[in-house]
Amino acid sequence: MLLLGIDIGTSSVKVSVVDAATQQIVISAQYPDEESPIKAVHPGWAEQSPLMWWEQTLKALERCNAQKSFDSQDVAAIGIAYQMHGLVLVDKDQNVLRDSIIWCDSRAVEIGEKAFATIGEEKCLSHLLNSPGNFTASKLAWVKENEPEVYAKIDKIMLPGDYIAMKLTGDITTSVSALSEGVFFDFKTNSISKEIINYFGFDESLFPVINPVFSAHGHLLASVAQILGLKAGIPVAYKAGDQPNNALSLNVLNPGEVAATAGTSGVIYGVSDQLAYDPQSRINTFAHVNYAEEQKRLGVLLCINGTGSMYRWAKYNFGAGLSYTQLNEEAKKAPLGSDGLRVLPFGNGAERMLNNKQIGAHFQNIDLNLHTQAHIFRAVQEGIACSFRYGFDIMRGNGMNPTVIRAGKSNLFLSPLFAETFVNATGVPVELYNNDGSVGAALGAGIGAGIFKSPSEAFSNAKAIQLIEPNPSVDFEPVYQEWYTLLNRQLS
Ligand code: XUL
Repeated sequence: MLLLGIDIGTSSVKVSVVDAATQQIVISAQYPDEESPIKAVHPGWAEQSPLMWWEQTLKALERCNAQKSFDSQDVAAIGIAYQMHGLVLVDKDQNVLRDSIIWCDSRAVEIGEKAFATIGEEKCLSHLLNSPGNFTASKLAWVKENEPEVYAKIDKIMLPGDYIAMKLTGDITTSVSALSEGVFFDFKTNSISKEIINYFGFDESLFPVINPVFSAHGHLLASVAQILGLKAGIPVAYKAGDQPNNALSLNVLNPGEVAATAGTSGVIYGVSDQLAYDPQSRINTFAHVNYAEEQKRLGVLLCINGTGSMYRWAKYNFGAGLSYTQLNEEAKKAPLGSDGLRVLPFGNGAERMLNNKQIGAHFQNIDLNLHTQAHIFRAVQEGIACSFRYGFDIMRGNGMNPTVIRAGKSNLFLSPLFAETFVNATGVPVELYNNDGSVGAALGAGIGAGIFKSPSEAFSNAKAIQLIEPNPSVDFEPVYQEWYTLLNRQLS
């Protein structure tokens, strides 16, 4: 029996067909080959077309089918992971009303800050576990204030993965995990937050029906099944944000377990059983995929917007024609500390861990007689690792002290230098797994469809392929301290 996982990323869509019996990939494909565009009509804005995600999904599936290495009629369920917090709006005929305002779009920061102050910080934190910040609720309020003609036509609001599920099944659903990532969910009343609804003046009918994360969110339409070569009627049996999904795919489900990603954004995601929050909302708390009212499982999430996005920028502007593998090789030619070159990678919108400030990306101390392309790539990797360390210290300050972090061997963790720098900067060992979000989504669908009895059964074959431990002969601290001083200078 086969399972299909679809991961709607910011830079591409990846799909994987996974054999439920072995939990192994039968085939994977990605589309497009180069990173997808993000529209930035104004500084700090970031939009993508939902239709582009759908077309990319079709193209990626076409690539899988073209390999003819599996019988597409054997696919029993579909799971979806998606870039979090993005706002998708449809009218009563399920037509998209405007481009999606995605996770790294910063236009709603002020709206969220005002809501935080007006509703009351204590009330927001104890009920929502977050400031409304720059999340989906504040983005929707921006549309209400600035595009009333669009707002008036909204039938349903949703997240990027809900849109893809809607295209597959015709049904629109949400979950507690999804509502919480939009900061629409009240953890005290276990319902959509009345405070948010009333403060922003949203109509409750805009929200889709709430289903468990692992459940049938709809069944594949015959018309779509024909295009995809799949069996009509199979369920979309799982939907989750890419970060909780990454945690699931690494079997990070219980209190104290921690996952990391270093894709377009970089994230450290720890599981907690406490309704705890960071008073400044620099790190965020959302319902995990296995959250239940009677057994609280929360994801405590540190996000760095400028991770793969920073590395991509360096590649396009300083590494013309080089592949990421070549970039990683080049970075190794520069020494530890990149001969003083420092990078603040904060050029992808408001950074939550910096109190939603947009300080932009910075190169500091460029020596025109010394620094080469290799220094640039290494300094970018080191700047990203320093950002992780900075955020990790905030997590530690909030009581999260992992002894190991699990990560999929993908994106920046494909670079041994980056993985080592991350470990030396944070002081915490990393276990790498041969897994990614699309595989997690496929296995999540197996759980939702009842093929696996529990998440641990779905990931029983997951084994770490590598353990990277802090290297006692590498003293990263002076590099971090210098970076930290530069950051504080920019923040003051
Ligand atoms: C997490 C976040 C990003 C996006 C990227 O809170 O905003 O990691 O999910 O896809």
